[in-house]
Amino acid sequence: MAVENLIDGRAIARQVQAELGERMGALRARGVQPGLAFVRVGEDPASKVYVGRKEKTCAELGIFSETHVLPEATTEGELLALLERLNTDARLHGILVQAPLPPHIRQAVVYSTVRPEKDVDGFHPVNMGKLLLGDRSGFVPCTPAGILELLVRSGIQTSGAHAVVLGRGNIVGKPLAALLCQKEKNANATVTLCHSGTRDIAGHCRRADILVAAMGVAGFVTAGMVKPGAVVIDVGVNRVADPAAKGGSRLVGDVDFAAVQPIAGRITPNPGGVGPMTIALLMHNTVRAAEAATR
Ligand code: GUN
Repeated sequence: MAVENLIDGRAIARQVQAELGERMGALRARGVQPGLAFVRVGEDPASKVYVGRKEKTCAELGIFSETHVLPEATTEGELLALLERLNTDARLHGILVQAPLPPHIRQAVVYSTVRPEKDVDGFHPVNMGKLLLGDRSGFVPCTPAGILELLVRSGIQTSGAHAVVLGRGNIVGKPLAALLCQKEKNANATVTLCHSGTRDIAGHCRRADILVAAMGVAGFVTAGMVKPGAVVIDVGVNRVADPAAKGGSRLVGDVDFAAVQPIAGRITPNPGGVGPMTIALLMHNTVRAAEAATR
């Protein structure tokens, strides 16, 4: 199978992290070690894996991290009390509450409680508002920021391109649409945001120069939905049953990769595309938070 059109997220993430290494050196020279707290509630298996990868990358870069694992039955009040403590802990420059949270905890309340200057996830209303307004002093959510970085570092021109984003979630689709439409050199795209209420999604997809699939439906994007030469970014992480696989299931993206790769101009593998970039941009946001807090 041809691999020439792959966008290597792992390699680009390594590049971003190498650049952060230099900024870490400058912080170290000033006696500053960036610190990041992870908070996980319950035993969601995917969240365990994600937080584990983020911890490992912190260790590789020399970022201090601590992880708070709370039981599924934790009340919203208990979680908020922990966040208040982390908000005032001077060792910590960033706080990340891993989604999803149990249904009895209001996500919006939780993300509003993390101080905006420690909100390296970019989910606080102040940071979301800044993103929409084009105010770059805020933190941009890691997956959308990572996708833009993938495009830019792969030499893909976004300016004037028609970007179609599938999925309107608060973590990826909505902030990515806001990011891509900003009047900036590395943005300036015409954005169509499709979702479950969209009529003729396939028709919209076929007009995309850049197609980002982030709706969480296994193999949704098929060959007939992609314009020849289009750039395809697969954000999906879906566990599907597969009796032949170890454990009886395997992970697949939102794109039918085997069918779409021969048609796409460029395409992200999955895994090895967006995932590593999300982590790299989290590290970037954390280093930036530490720089800003100690300037
Ligand atoms: N769950 C899936 N993606 C993310 C993310 O980027 N941040 C957090 N906190 N939770 C997530």
